[in-house]
Amino acid sequence: MENSTKKRSLSGIQPSGNVHIGNYLGMIKPALEYQKSYECLYFIADFHALTTIKDGAKLHQYTMDLVATWLALGLDTAKHIFFRQSDVTCVTEYAWYLSCFTGIGLLEKAHSYKDAREKVKEINHGLLAYPVLMAADILMYDVDIVPVGKDQKQHVEMARDMAGSVNAVLKKELIKLPEPVVKEDVMTIPGLDGRKMSKSYNNEIPLFCDEKTLEKKIMSIKTDSTPLEAPKELSGSLVGELFSLFAEQSQYSDLKDRMAKGGMGWGHAKAELFQIINSHLKDFRTEYDKLRADEDNLIKVLNNGAKRAQEIATIQLNLIRSELGFKKV
Ligand code: TRP
Repeated sequence: MENSTKKRSLSGIQPSGNVHIGNYLGMIKPALEYQKSYECLYFIADFHALTTIKDGAKLHQYTMDLVATWLALGLDTAKHIFFRQSDVTCVTEYAWYLSCFTGIGLLEKAHSYKDAREKVKEINHGLLAYPVLMAADILMYDVDIVPVGKDQKQHVEMARDMAGSVNAVLKKELIKLPEPVVKEDVMTIPGLDGRKMSKSYNNEIPLFCDEKTLEKKIMSIKTDSTPLEAPKELSGSLVGELFSLFAEQSQYSDLKDRMAKGGMGWGHAKAELFQIINSHLKDFRTEYDKLRADEDNLIKVLNNGAKRAQEIATIQLNLIRSELGFKKV
């Protein structure tokens, strides 16, 4: 097998909302870059999405959107494994084993849990157990690296803690400790209002909406009302920050210089921002629309991925099963 000696990269994303450019730049794009040198296992974390979404039709729609997104952006399913978390059901079993080695204190420290406690009145057990299921996702596939956005780093560290506890109690290196990798230069992607781009702030720039909607969203960025003639500072501005995420260094300096000369309004800068984002996404969007129109094909891709993922998962599952006194499957 070509891939058998390669190190493994694994990551997942929840189908819990519309995919936005924060998801793309913060996680999907960096994860796809590992295709060159790693064996990649990427999946749609639909069991995790259940902590917040209780509408089956919505969950299905978001799942299909994400599958089409990853494929359109270049995930090569001939060489790598792409699957739906809930298709490999033994992940919940593996999570149970980890649960029995995980202190409540560790789980109560999770930022995601603390946030939820502030926002939601009645916290479901799934939210507290979220990092355990995520650890199962990672550890069950015996992986080396986990490319994630900054907000998920703590969860990967918790997975390492859980692996460490199992190994310590069982007195052997049963589970490999994975490394989180966070792309430092695109750590926090600002949204339309300058705060972190997030579904909960309703400030997202969708990755694949139609051109008109994209333009409207970008033109809606609030800027100050400095007169047209006045010189303007691009760096430090929200428009500048978003522009730098898509522009070459030279394109950025060019716009910066023109803004500094005066005679250019923020409206002009936003129009250029739209142009640069749109030209980056255009071809991907066409591909996305094509793929999204054929759900049967998307499901076929997932089914194929699930079979391959299941094979890998079964190895770790049997190791821990026999260690703990359960029959191998
Ligand atoms: N919690 C991640 C998110 O919200 C999704 C996820 C689930 C994940 N399991 C994972 C990410 C395992 C990396 C590895 O984005």
